[in-house]
Amino acid sequence: MTDWTPDSWRAKPAEQQPAYRDPAALRRAVEQLAELPPLVTSWEVEALKEQLAAAARGEAFLLQGGDCAETLDECSSGAITAKLKILLQMSVVLVWGLRTRVVRVGRFAGQYAKPRSADFEEIGGVRLPTYRGDLVNGAAFTAADREPDPQRLLRGYERSALTINFIRALVDGGFADLHHPEYWDLGFVEHSPLAAEYRRMVAGIGESLRFMETLAGRAVAEMRRVDFYTSHEGLHLEYEQAHTRRVPRRAGWYNLSTHFPWIGLRTSDTEGAHVEYFRGIANPIGLKVGPGTAPDRLARLLDLLHPHDEPGRLTLIHRFGAGKIEAALPPLIEAVAKSGKRVLWVCDPMHGNTIATASGRKTRRFDHILDELERAFDIHAAHGTLLGGVHFELTGENVTECVGGARGLTDDGLGADYRSQVDPRLNYEQALEMALAIARRAGAGRAARGG
Ligand code: PEP
Ligand code: CO
Repeated sequence: MTDWTPDSWRAKPAEQQPAYRDPAALRRAVEQLAELPPLVTSWEVEALKEQLAAAARGEAFLLQGGDCAETLDECSSGAITAKLKILLQMSVVLVWGLRTRVVRVGRFAGQYAKPRSADFEEIGGVRLPTYRGDLVNGAAFTAADREPDPQRLLRGYERSALTINFIRALVDGGFADLHHPEYWDLGFVEHSPLAAEYRRMVAGIGESLRFMETLAGRAVAEMRRVDFYTSHEGLHLEYEQAHTRRVPRRAGWYNLSTHFPWIGLRTSDTEGAHVEYFRGIANPIGLKVGPGTAPDRLARLLDLLHPHDEPGRLTLIHRFGAGKIEAALPPLIEAVAKSGKRVLWVCDPMHGNTIATASGRKTRRFDHILDELERAFDIHAAHGTLLGGVHFELTGENVTECVGGARGLTDDGLGADYRSQVDPRLNYEQALEMALAIARRAGAGRAARGG
């Protein structure tokens, strides 16, 4: 790729970038970032690419999930372990239900920058820049908080490092050992209406594992270690460029701030700076597609981002909304078929289903989310393609941000513990319920096929 450099995006229009008051301070922060060690390695990035290629072939399933936006304050042991636990629990349910390997990718250790629909927000006659994620500014509605601060780029990098360090230590220490799923039970699983179903599944896995180990006469070592990969929206191009590195004995440039960066819907213009940046990095990348993605634009994006049809390179994360997916997904499936290229199809059933309650709070209905997901499975099956993964905004905590689910959370109940500064997340039980629903559906499909 001769005409690409880590900063060739600068010649293109860059959407969603903060306006810093002091360009020299920004330059100093970015220069420091570029000197600091990477957060991930190229061999991990390549290992994930292989796993995503397997998912595209139907030999694995991607579970990607986490906060809409991480915050610098919530970088705590409790919040991180709760996220790992729910992802582990969901993945066990999916392994059991789908009878396939699950690739776990967190929206964490770097998910600090947010696209916004407006540059400014006005409250009571006061006009301030919008909150763009903790990597850029603060959420509180004060002039000081909302001023973009380049030092936050360093704080975000450091928090990402703290997060990934803790995750690696937990995984190495056996936290994710499938022999001991009781380690990652969240406290309130006992009180959940879903507890019995979940525990039955876990007991089944434990039995199968013991059976295999008895047969083999030794422990299944791979079951002691479950890998987690990291992902975030590659939005803030100064930040992403600073992490773009060459590595010994491998060609090309890697973004080593995360394993799997994705391009958000609002920054997926073929002529824009984000697509220019992403086309040159060697990582596996995600691309959000939605109601505004025309098939011919997708065809052009496939040319730009996926020119060599490298297995595992491109994941298309579609997010239409339950009411739109039937009409909007098939033309995109056809565009990909026409290109002849292999992609991994993933459904994000969150971002097309955001609504406002009567009191103006942002929420999502459990039923809409599940509906979009089920339609996605059906549409792909009908077109001979495979839905190879799911993408959720979720938390391991008992927040009240999405309505519905087994406990029937209502609009009125949202006030109890609504924490998200941006999009509403599935809480622990709702997330587990979503995984159980996918597993049940897969089981029913097998039964119907007599398998
Ligand atoms: C997100 O994933 O938080 C997001 C902003 O999604 P999208 O780009 O699909 O709107
Ligand atoms: Co979001």
